[in-house]
Amino acid sequence: MSPTTSLSELGADALDSVHLRGLIDERLNAFLDDKCLRDADVHLVSLIEHLRGFLTAGGKRIRPLLCMVGWHAARGQGPTEPVIGAAASLELFHAFTLIHDDVMDGSDTRRGRPTLHRALESGADEASAERFGVNSAILLGDLVMVWSDELLYSSGLEQRQLAAARPLLDAMRTEVMIGQYRDLLATGKPNADVERSLAVIRYKTAKYTVERPLHIGAALAGADQSLLDVCTAYALPIGEAFQLRDDLLGVFGDPSKTGKSTLDDLREGKATALMAHALHAADAEQARVLKSLVGDPDLDEAGAETVRGLLRATGAADKVEQMITDRVQRARRVLDEAPFPEEVRKTLDTFITTTTLRST
Ligand code: IPE
Ligand code: IPE
Ligand code: MG
Ligand code: MG
Repeated sequence: MSPTTSLSELGADALDSVHLRGLIDERLNAFLDDKCLRDADVHLVSLIEHLRGFLTAGGKRIRPLLCMVGWHAARGQGPTEPVIGAAASLELFHAFTLIHDDVMDGSDTRRGRPTLHRALESGADEASAERFGVNSAILLGDLVMVWSDELLYSSGLEQRQLAAARPLLDAMRTEVMIGQYRDLLATGKPNADVERSLAVIRYKTAKYTVERPLHIGAALAGADQSLLDVCTAYALPIGEAFQLRDDLLGVFGDPSKTGKSTLDDLREGKATALMAHALHAADAEQARVLKSLVGDPDLDEAGAETVRGLLRATGAADKVEQMITDRVQRARRVLDEAPFPEEVRKTLDTFITTTTLRST
């Protein structure tokens, strides 16, 4: 792509998600190809092939796409190629987050395939396979996190751009870890505290998935604090709505579409807003049944169906749908007043629909 100076000169492709996804994936592939060429170590190449399988199996690329949207929201000038590199680096960071998340959550399936700690078990004897798979996935996750930094720094960004983005990237990384830690603290102890569940998802998802990627793209374009604040006002409600939808899909979704199990959250006893609403509204008998099933690591499909029935009967599923609707409206109101180019507003409006009404 040639150096560009304004959104209008970029034309129709500038914010086209399929086009951008192509550029981001191209950059990720080039980065990994280069790693293979520079270091032909057979074990490293094998890990890279596992990572490539993970990246090509799916993923919505939300964070890199929003980074590009943030750049255009702040009317970024100059070459976009380095910004694509920065955006792609967020996807590598995301790969790290998901690889470790699946270890922590004990998940067997992601993007319709075995999770990496499961896939990596094949490198060991049967007796030590599980431990080997987990340990290898921890290492691969660490490696990908470090590579995400390397990709960012080798993207050709100017020093002033890196200096502007750095504090926001640092904040994103700290926030997601804290969010994940809060999630761990609450897991296994579902309770009726909706506010507490919201505090967790604000950090582990809303800031990580929507706010900071927009901020980072905008900062690369030289955005001032007031523009970052508008991004925040849009991002937090929509990021919460995104995770609330994820929580509904995690129980009621179609695994052939989400690529994830609908038993994981229930077996783990994930303290979601959905569960909080159910426990809040449940009568004594409903609460007893919920507490006996949710958090049972051996919960089967019949048990899960009983829980689903209770989540509906207590009105919890409807309550979460309403929470999503409220947040969609809040984000739309912010967008109506946002000082973004029209194309950016349209893109962020479409994003509201695709992330909150999604089935994948
Ligand atoms: C999954 O993120 C983790 C959450 C924050 C809910 P995504 O839903 O963006 O996962 P992929 O990248 O599309 O697989
Ligand atoms: C994952 O949260 C959040 C991050 C990876 C930051 P979950 O554990 O709820 O997401 P899934 O359902 O496994 O994707
Ligand atoms: Mg998980
Ligand atoms: Mg998790």
